[in-house]
Amino acid sequence: MADTPRHPFLQGLSKHRGAPPTVVVIFGASGDLTARKLIPAVYNLSVDGLLPADFHLVGFGRKAISDENFRALAKDAVREFSRRELNPDDWGRIAARTTYVAGDYDEPAAFVRLAAQLTAIEQRIGREVQPLFYISTPPSVFAPILRHLGASGLAGKYLGQDHHAKVIIEKPFGRDLGSALELNTTIRGVFAEHQVYRIDHYLGKETVQDLLVQRFANAIFEPLWNRNFIDSVQITVAEEGGVGSRGGYYEQSGCLRDMIQNHTMQLVALTAMEPPGSYAAEAIRDEKVKVLKAIQPLSLVAGGDVARAQYAAGMTGGKAVAGYVEEEGIAPGSTTETYAAIRLSINNWRWQGVPFYLRSGKRMARRVSEIAINFKRPPGTLFAESGGFDLAANTLAFQLQPDEGLSLVLNTKIPGLETRTQPVKMSFRYSTTFGSNTPEAYERLVLDAMIGDGTLFIRGDEAETSWKLYTPVLAAWAAAGAEGLDRYAAGSWGPASGDALLARHGHLWRQP
Ligand code: BG6
Repeated sequence: MADTPRHPFLQGLSKHRGAPPTVVVIFGASGDLTARKLIPAVYNLSVDGLLPADFHLVGFGRKAISDENFRALAKDAVREFSRRELNPDDWGRIAARTTYVAGDYDEPAAFVRLAAQLTAIEQRIGREVQPLFYISTPPSVFAPILRHLGASGLAGKYLGQDHHAKVIIEKPFGRDLGSALELNTTIRGVFAEHQVYRIDHYLGKETVQDLLVQRFANAIFEPLWNRNFIDSVQITVAEEGGVGSRGGYYEQSGCLRDMIQNHTMQLVALTAMEPPGSYAAEAIRDEKVKVLKAIQPLSLVAGGDVARAQYAAGMTGGKAVAGYVEEEGIAPGSTTETYAAIRLSINNWRWQGVPFYLRSGKRMARRVSEIAINFKRPPGTLFAESGGFDLAANTLAFQLQPDEGLSLVLNTKIPGLETRTQPVKMSFRYSTTFGSNTPEAYERLVLDAMIGDGTLFIRGDEAETSWKLYTPVLAAWAAAGAEGLDRYAAGSWGPASGDALLARHGHLWRQP
């Protein structure tokens, strides 16, 4: 396969992780995610030589389209959304192994046709091919698809062998604790847990994985990573964009379900968990669940642990933009929150008394995701007389996106004949050191699922533990309606109530 030049720092890195022969079956093949993320991920894995030799792609969808048309759509998707330009030779190799099955998600005969198609592939190439089912449909059809995968025998294919059937489930994984439990029950009725890969695409981001490497591959952090040295932790996942054309979905979701319950909680778990016994999926996931379970129930009274708000009209990137309720598909009186801020208390030996502040919002000042570890202030007495009493707290910040990297704020002497101090920022940027063509999260996740590595996926009990924490919040907000729903101007850093949540405990949001 053609290879693109690798950045010097990446040369020599191994490509040892090999997947067995696989057929990826995408349910929801004509959907947005398939075009934007999944097909480009498959293409880039192929360009990097990471797909197994016997790789096949089957699109499954309700639309009656031919194999030829599906291939044309997939090619357009690569052209439009791939991080690498479409190379006809590279694409040709995938196109030759791409087919389509049309059918309803609740139609047994469609799954018989799918099974026949998989058998035909195996007969043609003369060997077994593990099926990897990617459920990328609206959640209303997750359950029927799962049931038919069970009833048709596809879910049990090669069970007991390395190359058994696997299933990837897209978000949203339930909309509260009850629905998540129900979905897990349906899944467990059909697949064993080790066959199941619940996606949170934040786990596929390079910098999120780097968090574990920074924490556990460097000796200097672990001794400081606790309540004796850390004052607070702030996690920000801010988006500049508004709700765009996804109003219909977002109205039913809101920020807590869309971002906090899943993505930011994964960041909390990786930041706060104990060192795992090994770098194996179960060891890491056990530690994540353990720390999630140590989080205390949230105080929902006014002045408690939560704040919510909705964006009003404002300015972003020098342009006037509409408020949430003026966006397409949004009810004029909608009380859906587009911003949420949370204060978490973790009741264990490592973290007791260290607040974890989370915030996420649409239409904020700029797109930035970061985890900031704020250390306790140094005693400033030594430098007080020379004007250095304003010593900054050291902050270690993992910038997850954009401009991925790591920075550390240190107090430094200002050159000159007096001893005066100033905080400076020491930074490491991925793009400077490693070049900027990093794989997309979905490339890593699809590859890991093919290989059978569940480390970067959510286990059933992780999803349930997180929903358990937030379901009372959702219920309280639904009951309160507009009462307590704050507003913030589009293009700002969020509402006053979000700032007050920290101010009550003597903290301020950091300006990322
Ligand atoms: C998705 C949410 O899960 O994550 C979107 O549904 C959000 O609303 C997106 O915009 C953010 O992902 P990223 O990778 O752009 O930070």
